[in-house]
Amino acid sequence: MQTPRTKIVQALRLDPPQTGLRVKGWLRTLRKSKNVVFFEVNDGSCFASLQVVCAPELANFEEIGHLTTGSAVEVVGELIASPAKGQRVELKATEVIIVGRADASYPLQKKRHSHEFLRTIAHLRPRTNTYGAVFRTRSRLAQAIHAFFGERGFFYVHTPIITAGDCEGAGEMFNVTTFDVGDPARTEGGAVDWSEDFFSRQAYLTVSGQLNGEAFALGLSDIYTFGPTFRAENSNTPRHVAEFWMIEPEMAWCDLDDDCTLAEAFVKHLLKAALEDCAEDLSFFNSWVDKGLIKRLEHVVSADFERMSYGDAVKHLEKSGRSFEFPVHFGANLQAEHERYLTEEVVGRPLFVTDYPKEIKAFYMRRNDDGRTVAAMDLLVPKIGELIGGSQREERLDVLEATIREAGLDPELYAWYLDTRRFGTAPHAGFGLGFERLLMYVTGMENIRDVIPFPRTPRNCDF
Ligand code: 4AD
Ligand code: MG
Repeated sequence: MQTPRTKIVQALRLDPPQTGLRVKGWLRTLRKSKNVVFFEVNDGSCFASLQVVCAPELANFEEIGHLTTGSAVEVVGELIASPAKGQRVELKATEVIIVGRADASYPLQKKRHSHEFLRTIAHLRPRTNTYGAVFRTRSRLAQAIHAFFGERGFFYVHTPIITAGDCEGAGEMFNVTTFDVGDPARTEGGAVDWSEDFFSRQAYLTVSGQLNGEAFALGLSDIYTFGPTFRAENSNTPRHVAEFWMIEPEMAWCDLDDDCTLAEAFVKHLLKAALEDCAEDLSFFNSWVDKGLIKRLEHVVSADFERMSYGDAVKHLEKSGRSFEFPVHFGANLQAEHERYLTEEVVGRPLFVTDYPKEIKAFYMRRNDDGRTVAAMDLLVPKIGELIGGSQREERLDVLEATIREAGLDPELYAWYLDTRRFGTAPHAGFGLGFERLLMYVTGMENIRDVIPFPRTPRNCDF
């Protein structure tokens, strides 16, 4: 019987000598001389590769010497203490099986490739150091998210991906239809007859699971969603994608203050998880992607996040003496340049900006007593800007009906949502954290396209 395969992450931790070890992976580099071939094999289970040493006694020694980068191999051998510098152990091969060759046109050769180039081969970039590290970190943080909420008694709710309503009221939705787009059913007047479509109404990909999440919070108290969300916004920036993953907790019996407190604990928990569980990958990012990364993350874990009202934030911006591209005044949307100035220069750490003017925020946010602001919060962090958007929700039926109308939305479409206020309404609050923005923050990667496996952006849906 064959010995089972050992993953390289485990092999590298074993105490040598160990005979009959079997590893499987992809060849990264190879050096040869007359009497020996060295190659590095990586299986993605950890950052490091395993050095394999081949002697001329191997039956296919010649062939091994001609192996090229990217080839898939299976190696059996003895794990020994490495006599050379650079690695603690190495594998003295007794058998090398060539499983899948990669010819010389393999695009990942042993040089640094630009992120832009690697985006064009997104199907191969998981085999690189950088993207292996990014996607291991992504996976571990997804698990840390579930652990955080699980420990606090939150229930994980799978909100629908296809919806009829527009949660944000911003009209940035992708249509979902089974119509032949060239020949949809039409009414006698010639308009598209959605009653004939699959759902007998217009349907979309969701922009947020929040409204459904609220219905569950008003029954299970503390819930969260974690799933893909879609925005048909035509923004080509390093911080926007059309399909992204969002974590949305929703808590009954909570106000805006409690909401910020949870968000702060959540972000700190995730940064700590990254520092502890992804130390090897983070250390790579710290050396090669973003020099002060680890220090910055450690600082954030121990710092108190600042809180400031939108009104005060605007005052800081007005007296900054900076000439921003977008002028700022009470009522203006904060742009990335403003957000970064506030969090990087004014406070030097993560900052909650709260109580925005009602005109620039969504209909579901709770009206403050001043009549002109809402109980909203955005968490701004250095280098990224907005990481989280959240609010206390409008729980008063009459006020919510009015704000839906004011936003130009059809209350009919929100009838079920209004029911939650009609029957046993209760104060509640929640937020949404953009998972890719968090990953940019944790890895130091500067483009959101490089922290999601296959990015979808305007004019790009490859792979
Ligand atoms: O601020 P947003 O639009 O808030 C909501 O969707 C609320 N319903 C959340 C809630 O209260 N439950 O989005 C939340 C976060 C942003 O702070 C940002 O991190 C991320 O989602 N985000 C995007 N990430 C990548 N690409 C985009 N196009 C994004 N739009 C928002
Ligand atoms: Mg927002």
